[in-house]
Amino acid sequence: MPVILAKYMGDYVGKEVTLQGWVRLKRKHGKIRFVELRDGSAFVQCVFIKGETSDSAMEDFKKLTQESSIEVSGIVQQNPRDGSYELLVKDLKIYQISEPFPITPKEHGIDFLMDHRHLWLRSKRQWAILRVRAEIIKACRAFFDERDFVLVDSPILTPNAAEGSTTLFKTDYFGETAYLTQSGQLYSEAAIAAFKKVYCFGPTFRAEKSKTRRHLMEFWMVEPEVAFATLEDVMNLAEEFVEYIVARVLDKRMEELKILERDISKLEKIKRPFIRMTYTEAVEKLQNLGSDIKWGEDFGGDDETILTKEYDKPILVHRFPASFKAFYFKLDEKDPKLALGVDVLAPEGYGEIVGGGERSADIDYLLKRIREEGIPEENYKWYLDLRRYGSVPHGGFGLGIERTVAWICGLHHVRETIPWPRMLNRLYP
Ligand code: 4AD
Ligand code: MG
Repeated sequence: MPVILAKYMGDYVGKEVTLQGWVRLKRKHGKIRFVELRDGSAFVQCVFIKGETSDSAMEDFKKLTQESSIEVSGIVQQNPRDGSYELLVKDLKIYQISEPFPITPKEHGIDFLMDHRHLWLRSKRQWAILRVRAEIIKACRAFFDERDFVLVDSPILTPNAAEGSTTLFKTDYFGETAYLTQSGQLYSEAAIAAFKKVYCFGPTFRAEKSKTRRHLMEFWMVEPEVAFATLEDVMNLAEEFVEYIVARVLDKRMEELKILERDISKLEKIKRPFIRMTYTEAVEKLQNLGSDIKWGEDFGGDDETILTKEYDKPILVHRFPASFKAFYFKLDEKDPKLALGVDVLAPEGYGEIVGGGERSADIDYLLKRIREEGIPEENYKWYLDLRRYGSVPHGGFGLGIERTVAWICGLHHVRETIPWPRMLNRLYP
């Protein structure tokens, strides 16, 4: 009897198969007994009926507890009521009878669930979220692979800072200081001179002393970088990319979005063109909406929430005051107070999911800004070399996977969007 994944049961109607998995719950209805089995690929009802099911399986059914690990063999049937597939059980093999499982169908507090993340992953909701995450990651790779980008990964241990010295995780590197990378961008800027269009994709780290629904200490970022690209090119690419990811999830992960009770109509509206406005226009708009933000200040999480609730499409905010942006941005020739950066803000209050822009080619300006970071400038020598040997206009962006998952799944907080969240007060499990 073949061992199959439950999601393929439709191909085996009337045939005998074996499923391996865990007991989600069991119940009785008259003389019939049911196990809801999870096998990782789907949730499936297994039916035990005296006469059809072996006597030993009927007997062993009594021992089953939530999360017991089992193997069931039987005949695949289609439920005439809802078209779902179920297994008419012939035999049952028990691998382990689970001890009382800490997570039961009753409500648990978030701290309890987070402390039991290693077990919580098995719940239907977490299953759905992490499958959407995996699909988003596939979409990211497919998008760039299909468009002639080369994957060039950046290092995780680095001597320099990419996004400012205040959020660095410091570690000892055989007597030298190393930092966990905040972004692979600087290395991708080197790689474009070899490959023209590259992307890197990996974990990035920020020691952000902020406890918000948008911040993790460790998060995943996909970062394309393109030679000969201007801010306008970067904005077009980001827009196409975000549209592509949403369309792909709608195409492949509808079942999961339904489990999450996501309002699909909101995602179906994510079509180009998105909204575009300058930082200056965004500040005016925010002031009209009641925010007390002043020109020159970065958006707070609340500002992003207010602004994005106004539109049903993502907003590209561009041309920020250089004063609060990272050192590497090119300045706007028309107004050198402004950096040629762009953030993409997701709708429904989700806020920034993408940050990027055009990079400066001006060595003197870069050196001045690097000195302000307070990290020894010799660690950036290699980076400045890129402006000496065949420098070209270029740019790119980074899309944060967890914030994108939160938005697409409709989750209030990023903590459930990554298998093992690392937060201000959480390193366990
Ligand atoms: O805007 P950020 O800081 O941009 C960069 O790191 C650039 N070097 C990217 C580039 O141009 N190649 O971060 C980019 C995105 C944010 O828009 C957000 O989605 C995510 O990374 N992000 C975080 N996600 C979760 N927790 C945090 N602490 C995050 N910080 C940034
Ligand atoms: Mg940003």
